[in-house]
Amino acid sequence: MSAATGISTREFVIADHDQAVALWKAEEGIEVCEGDSREEIDVYLKRNPGLSRVAEAGGEIVGAVLCGHDGRRGMIYHLAVAPAFRGRGIGKLLLDDCVRGLREAGLPRAIILVAGDNSAGHQFWLRNAFEDLDFVIAMTREI
Ligand SMILES: CC(C)(COP(=O)(O)OP(=O)(O)OC[C@H]1O[C@@H](n2cnc3c(N)ncnc32)[C@H](O)[C@@H]1OP(=O)(O)O)[C@@H](O)C(=O)NCCC(=O)NCCS
Repeated sequence: MSAATGISTREFVIADHDQAVALWKAEEGIEVCEGDSREEIDVYLKRNPGLSRVAEAGGEIVGAVLCGHDGRRGMIYHLAVAPAFRGRGIGKLLLDDCVRGLREAGLPRAIILVAGDNSAGHQFWLRNAFEDLDFVIAMTREI
């Protein structure tokens, strides 16, 4: 608990799913997509115990982030803070939780994907020691 802000962070549990999705859906910088259903997030949380986090103020979820790893690289997804609570260090608190959890799990490096038109989100990651990967092209395919 941060005494200055009354904000606390804790593990993301499946009961948080609906509030987290509502937070993500309100953000242009976050695409709620395959992998985000209640059932899929339940599997993800069980595969990556304790790594995904929420921030609470007065019993309400005001921030959320998904975090996991494949044993080689950490991945951080869907970091969001409710607009009224931004600029108070909550995004950094959630990110620090993720970094600490990944470090304790033995991961040496984390990867994130930022939408190309999300310049505010990009600035947040740059401010928090992430570097652009200018030498790669992110790719995907449906399985
Ligand atoms: C990105 C986001 C999570 C930041 O949350 P936040 O709680 O406002 O961020 P913090 O207050 O913890 O800021 C931490 C640091 O990042 C900096 N920062 C945050 N947003 C910034 C921005 N838009 N531009 C530049 N710097 C920014 C802060 O100044 C602070 O720097 P400092 O440590 O030197 O003081 C929030 O703006 C958000 O939810 N955005 C919409 C969703 C989104 O785009 N998420 C990223 C998906 S890739």
